[in-house]
Amino acid sequence: MSQLKDQVLDALRTVQDPDLKRDLVSLNMVKTVEVDGQGNVRVVVELTTPACPLKKKIEDDCRAAIARVPGVANIVVEMGARVTTSAAPEGKNRLPGVKNILAVGSGKGGVGKSTTATNISVALKELGAQVALLDADIYGPNIPGMMGVAGRPKVINKRIIPIESNGVKLMSMGFLVSEDQPVVWRGPMLHGVMKQLLFDVAWGEIDYLVIDTPPGTGDVQLSLSQMVPVNGSVIVTTPQNVALQDVRKGLSMFKKVDIPVLGIVENMSYYLCPACGHRDEVFDHGGGERVAAELGLDFLGGVPLNSEIRRSMDVGRPVAGVKGSDFYAIYREIAQKVAQQLAIRNARAAIDLTPPPTTMLAEETT
Ligand SMILES: Nc1ncnc2c1ncn2[C@@H]1O[C@H](COP(=O)(O)OP(=O)(O)O)[C@@H](O)[C@H]1O
Ligand SMILES: [Mg+2]
Repeated sequence: MSQLKDQVLDALRTVQDPDLKRDLVSLNMVKTVEVDGQGNVRVVVELTTPACPLKKKIEDDCRAAIARVPGVANIVVEMGARVTTSAAPEGKNRLPGVKNILAVGSGKGGVGKSTTATNISVALKELGAQVALLDADIYGPNIPGMMGVAGRPKVINKRIIPIESNGVKLMSMGFLVSEDQPVVWRGPMLHGVMKQLLFDVAWGEIDYLVIDTPPGTGDVQLSLSQMVPVNGSVIVTTPQNVALQDVRKGLSMFKKVDIPVLGIVENMSYYLCPACGHRDEVFDHGGGERVAAELGLDFLGGVPLNSEIRRSMDVGRPVAGVKGSDFYAIYREIAQKVAQQLAIRNARAAIDLTPPPTTMLAEETT
């Protein structure tokens, strides 16, 4: 029986994580191998994110590999996930309980940055992750409205309790300042309030904290990057030719403060007519992809211009959480790509630090 178990484990050594190009066993992703006298096999594979776009492929590959082992009758492959994190660089404090921080930015306002940040958050939640969203856009804190919440969060034991909506924990500049009262932020004051928004909030256990950052001079990004490790960022753009300049601006802003840019989301990519379904390439096709290629960034996806998206934001029920919506899958795919990029970075960082394990499973499965 244990011989069969060894054979199953050896079979799993032939299955690779397509991103990391290493086998699941040496990556420590095989958590359980159980066999019984009748040739029934049960394995548990732990992915680095529940939003893994390769989940189905990895599962199929495991099943196929195990099926080749002589004497195997029945195969159960369970796919679990535990979101990874990476060590905080020196001088930075990890935000307690928060595994990954993703900043969403743009070169200019009005391109759909908040819409994108909100929908990516909700999509990650839909995929099974624990998610929080911090609205750090001091010039236009729109997240409360887009998530359908208002008012002030409770404070318990000097900790701000985030307000939950659409399954996502929220904190916003908008909870602290009134909408119609413009605020001029000076450096130290801004830094202080960012610190409060990050460290005085009872986030709990969070896989992904998404931060909506304001366009402009990059003060918030600078403040952020000084206080916490930001694992990656997404730049939102529109498809016009002129947008290249804006993406460059966004890119150099994140680069300046050492926040890695994972890729570009093209918003209002094309017009999708709600009446007839016609797709009109208002600004020509492929602008975002060209810009991404030109700047050496990943193209994470394109979202059409459609009134259902706008309406859903107005009523605080983002489309990424509405299963029947045409746009559910679009945001899901973007969120998967983001999570995949973060997981790859975390894994690479870990692999750099530790030699591959030569033996494993000994304790877990006997
Ligand atoms: N793909 C889209 N289709 C339709 N309306 C959109 C889309 N993306 C954003 N909007 C709308 O455009 C406006 C600006 O978007 P917003 O996310 O607030 O931009 P930003 O945060 O970049 O200033 C909002 O009213 C929003 O609902
Ligand atoms: Mg905004």
